[in-house]
Amino acid sequence: MASCFIAPSILSADFARLGDEVRAVIAGGADLIHFDVMDNHYVPNLTVGPLVCQALKPHTSVPIDVHLMVKPVDRIVPDFAKAGASIISFHPEASDHVDRTIGLIHDCGCKAGLVFNPATPLVWLDHVLDKLDLVLIMSVNPGFGGQSFITEALAKLRLARARIDAVQARTGREIRLEVDGGVKVDNIGAIAKAGADTFVAGSAIFGTSDYAATIAAMRAAATA
Ligand code: DX5
Ligand code: ZN
Repeated sequence: MASCFIAPSILSADFARLGDEVRAVIAGGADLIHFDVMDNHYVPNLTVGPLVCQALKPHTSVPIDVHLMVKPVDRIVPDFAKAGASIISFHPEASDHVDRTIGLIHDCGCKAGLVFNPATPLVWLDHVLDKLDLVLIMSVNPGFGGQSFITEALAKLRLARARIDAVQARTGREIRLEVDGGVKVDNIGAIAKAGADTFVAGSAIFGTSDYAATIAAMRAAATA
C-alpha cells in the first residue's frame, strides 16, 4: 500500500478552540498537524506564530508541520524549532539563500521542506533535493483556505515524484512529497496516483462534523 499521511491544516479550524480542534483531528487519525504561518507580506493574510505553536505542542502527539509563508525566512526558523516544530517548510522566493536556510532548519533539529507555488518551477530542486526531507507542491496560490485545486499540480507532482524516486534509489533517504490546497475526498485518489504521499487538507476536514470519518474516507480514497 502506498504511503498516506493526512495533515489537517489548522487554518480552517475554530481558532477560539484550537487545542480542542487539534486533539480532535489527532483522535480522528491525523498523521501530522499542518501549521500555516502567514505574514501579510509574502502572502496577503496574517495568521499565527511561534507562540501559538508552542501553546499547541502539549496538545499534539503527532509531528507539527510548519508551512512558512513569510519573508524573510531565517530569523523566525529557530523560534519555530524551539516552539516544537518537527518539519519546517519555506518558499524559495522568500529566502535570499535557499541552501543556507535548509542548513539552518537542520541545525535547529528539524526536517526541511521546500514549497512550490503554482508558478514556481521545479528547477529550484536542482541543487538542493539531496538535502531536503520534504517537497511541498502548492495546488492553490498560498494565502487562504477553501480555494479550488489547480489541476496543473498533478503534472508537477508526477515530475517531482520522478525526481524524488531517483534520489531515493541513489541514497536510500526518505523524501516526502506533500500537496497543499483544495485537497478533498473526491480528488485525493487522483492526487495520490500523481505521486503525493502527504496530503494537507483544511476546509475538507474542519468543514465537516465528523473529522474521523472524513480522514478515514480520505485515506481510503488515497490508498485505493
Ligand atoms: C494555503 C494554505 C493551506 C490551506 C489549505 O495557503 O497553505 O494549507 O490551509 O486549505 P484547503 O485545504 O481548504 O485548501
Ligand atoms: Zn499550508
